[in-house]
Amino acid sequence: MSPFLLTRTLPEDATDAALRADVLHGLTCTPKSLPPKWFYDARGSALFDEITTLPEYYPTRAEREILLARAPEIAAATGARTLIELGSGSSDKTRHLIDALTSLETYVPVDVSESALRGAANTLLADRPALGVHALIADFTGGLALPGTQGPRLVAFLGGTVGNLLPQERAAFLSSVRAMLSPGDALLLGTDLVKDEAVLVAAYDDAAGVTAAFNKNVLHVINRELGADFQADAFAHVAVWDRDNEWIEMRLRSRVAQTVKVQALDLAVDFERGEELRTEISAKFREEGVRRELAVAGLELTHWWTDARGRFALSLATAA
Ligand code: SAH
Ligand code: TRP
Repeated sequence: MSPFLLTRTLPEDATDAALRADVLHGLTCTPKSLPPKWFYDARGSALFDEITTLPEYYPTRAEREILLARAPEIAAATGARTLIELGSGSSDKTRHLIDALTSLETYVPVDVSESALRGAANTLLADRPALGVHALIADFTGGLALPGTQGPRLVAFLGGTVGNLLPQERAAFLSSVRAMLSPGDALLLGTDLVKDEAVLVAAYDDAAGVTAAFNKNVLHVINRELGADFQADAFAHVAVWDRDNEWIEMRLRSRVAQTVKVQALDLAVDFERGEELRTEISAKFREEGVRRELAVAGLELTHWWTDARGRFALSLATAA
């Protein structure tokens, strides 16, 4: 039997305090907004997995194509003995990497979603019983306390999740990743690329309405955790392409004038009819931008791979 460890660096009361602070801030500022990590309770993680199978949601398939084609090169370039994955979710695509990393001893999946981590570890250990798995329930934006592991380390951040951070948060995040790396370690970063607007919008506003359900899930989380009385049906899912910032912006638009009460915060929030609450951005990238942002964080891009249709990119970078 291999060791399976699950470490919680987010105490439940700290999570609760962070949710309160985020919701209080987000619902009382103008325009209203909510940070995306609260999408991912067990239902949110399951809905995201469903998104990855939708015909319109190409990023997962494109990234899988690159991983399948390049995993041997990644293994040769890094020789990783430890794989640390941030925002690992189901770890499904990661399997291609794990299978190719012949020196791999330890896998450290990091996610805020405990249900996703447990599901991923179960599936993985059924197949790779000798792999050490040390799962970490943690916020990757908040100063990670990683377990001591053997180098060389490969830090993977897949799925284009880096695009869910605002530019300033992204810069701080990449610097914190740089600080995690010792000489010989590397970062594998997945970024979705700028493309035709119709393709992008469809990926975030699918015909079956799964993304709409995912977006509204954050309201159910707030209802359950903070005793709020959001009515999900009173909001419409909106996905718009912001041409200037080159990001997709997900919003929830109030269909009517309404007041929502958040019991745990002793708060009443007024929404005008048509008022929008921003729930998430998903930035899209170009090679030069990725190279520049990595360089600013002290990271040097060594490999840039895209899928055959040029929709998505994987970058490999080392400490500059
Ligand atoms: N890497 C997977 C999942 C991407 S979805 C894939 O490529 O398919 C984004 C994942 O990041 C979710 O599992 C979510 O729970 C996690 N996540 C989002 N914000 C986070 C944060 N601040 N800290 C840790 N995990 C986070
Ligand atoms: N990292 C994913 C992305 O930006 C997350 C995501 C996919 C998402 N679909 C979404 C977030 C819909 C909010 C709403 O593609």
